[in-house]
Amino acid sequence: MTAMAPETTPMPNDILLDVQGLSVEYASPGTKPVTAVENVSFSLRRGEFVGLVGESGSGKSTLGFALTRLQKPPARISAGRILFGGRDIRELDAEELRRQRQGGFAMVLQSGMNALNPVRTVGNHFRDIFAAHGHVPKDARDARARELIGKVGLDESVLARYPGELSGGMRQRA
Ligand SMILES: Nc1ncnc2c1ncn2[C@@H]1O[C@H](COP(=O)(O)OP(=O)(O)OP(=O)(O)O)[C@@H](O)[C@H]1O
Ligand SMILES: [Mg+2]
Repeated sequence: MTAMAPETTPMPNDILLDVQGLSVEYASPGTKPVTAVENVSFSLRRGEFVGLVGESGSGKSTLGFALTRLQKPPARISAGRILFGGRDIRELDAEELRRQRQGGFAMVLQSGMNALNPVRTVGNHFRDIFAAHGHVPKDARDARARELIGKVGLDESVLARYPGELSGGMRQRA
């Protein structure tokens, strides 16, 4: 896997995400663990975009799952550390993790269809998320959903539609 270095050296206090020497392996019964991510280091400043390029199976998703604490066994971080806003993400408790997923880090999955419930409209997904996080007052939720869907270039009519009625790219944006 290849991590593209940012063009300029980040100022230490500007760094939002700092990954140092990260290795992730998959345990496999009876044989040696498979190392999918090996000694990866990079950092990301607020507002900065970093592209990660690599052939299929090179460890991009494995890295993404580790960074967002979505990793599950048999995957295991075998070395290194991940600091988000100066905090080691492995030390976040359930409540801190819930808050970070609301306003900190998130993962947009390759297949939007698997991430969305096919029998609920896009608008209902927003309602579920607002209810789970409780950060948008009830009477402001519909307006906030319209605002957010507009930010990613979708028409607000998308909120009334079911995931199966959208294109792949529209689903990812939703
Ligand atoms: N659950 C798992 N158990 C064991 N090995 C796994 C598991 N998931 C992924 N791997 C292995 O880890 C390596 C990296 O896979 P990963 O899914 O991170 O690749 P990727 O770069 O996201 O590929 P793609 O571009 O195809 O999405 C691969 O060799 C894969 O076989
Ligand atoms: Mg992948």
